[in-house]
Amino acid sequence: MKKDNKIYVAGHNGMVGAAICRILQLHGYSNIMGKSSKELDLRNQEQVNQFFKTENPAVVIDAAARVGGILANNNYPYQFLMDNLLIQNNLIHAAHENAVDKFIFLGSSCIYPKLAPQPLKEEYLLTASLEPTNEWYAIAKITGVKACEAIRKQYQKDFVSLMPTNLYGSFDNFDLETSHVLPAMVRKFYDATINNHATVTLWGTGTPMREFLHVDDMAKAVLFAVENPLPDYLYNVGTGVDLTIKELAELIQKITGHKGEIIWDASKPDGTYRKLMDNSKLEKLGWKYQIDLQQGVQQTYDWFLKNIHQYKTVKI
Ligand SMILES: NC(=O)c1ccc[n+]([C@@H]2O[C@H](COP(=O)([O-])OP(=O)(O)OC[C@H]3O[C@@H](n4cnc5c(N)ncnc54)[C@H](OP(=O)(O)O)[C@@H]3O)[C@@H](O)[C@H]2O)c1
Repeated sequence: MKKDNKIYVAGHNGMVGAAICRILQLHGYSNIMGKSSKELDLRNQEQVNQFFKTENPAVVIDAAARVGGILANNNYPYQFLMDNLLIQNNLIHAAHENAVDKFIFLGSSCIYPKLAPQPLKEEYLLTASLEPTNEWYAIAKITGVKACEAIRKQYQKDFVSLMPTNLYGSFDNFDLETSHVLPAMVRKFYDATINNHATVTLWGTGTPMREFLHVDDMAKAVLFAVENPLPDYLYNVGTGVDLTIKELAELIQKITGHKGEIIWDASKPDGTYRKLMDNSKLEKLGWKYQIDLQQGVQQTYDWFLKNIHQYKTVKI
């Protein structure tokens, strides 16, 4: 892989895409390109084909997707299924037609069955039913994994899928309406601290367990896949370490300096009890996470404080 090979990062403005661009630049890659959804709507096959003919990238990293939580998946099942299918199908097919050497497809741990044994191994894919709340998104992602696997099998091209666990870090979404659990907690403890509120109310019982990976470690897994041909079609990317939501809340409370009490609203849903990934397949090849949760949350909080002007502070 030459440092001046053209690398197209689809979704370069998103949390994951931006981290991938930063890490690639840090490692000397000088020919990285991206297009916003306004400049190039990846759901439009004609536009995508034209773009590939004009730009002719050597490597494509697909970090573009319609992403959202349970509520959004529930309200817009058709868009979560169809937009994601269109985006990834157009990218995968245009890459294949235009002789792209390497394609890296990003999915998510929701591709695995709801009741699969823990930790989740790659081989559990398609062995039982999915979690119904996000099956639209998961089915689109499984189709992307299978399309890359089919191209790999039939044409011996280096098309590979990486499945990250829950990610967090710089450029995360701190909007309480739409954010994931970790940035939502950062935001709630920050708002409570500056408003001098003694209590912070969080959803659920605090007992479910979750795994978190800093987005810069995820980007380094992508760098690893750019620089090394991976022998198989599907790899999990996580830390292999999980903690309870209560432990996460206490860590974030300490980092934000909030001194009050945490109230658990058990009338709100807890979600799946545990979702831990088995990352040994990629680790055996040489990638391993480096940023532990304490360090990662501190970095994320520092980034949030520097960029707080982007967000409206909520009086709670
Ligand atoms: N965040 C997580 O915790 C997490 C965990 C596991 C897996 N992942 C995976 O990582 C990938 C990226 O996630 P993210 O968190 O970075 O999401 P994100 O911040 O919402 O970014 C998504 C990106 O996709 C682009 N996009 C969406 N629709 C598009 C369209 N029609 N045409 C062109 N571009 C379009 C957006 O471009 P514009 O900004 O220009 O509109 C945006 O840059 C996804 O595949 C997701 O499944 C994320």
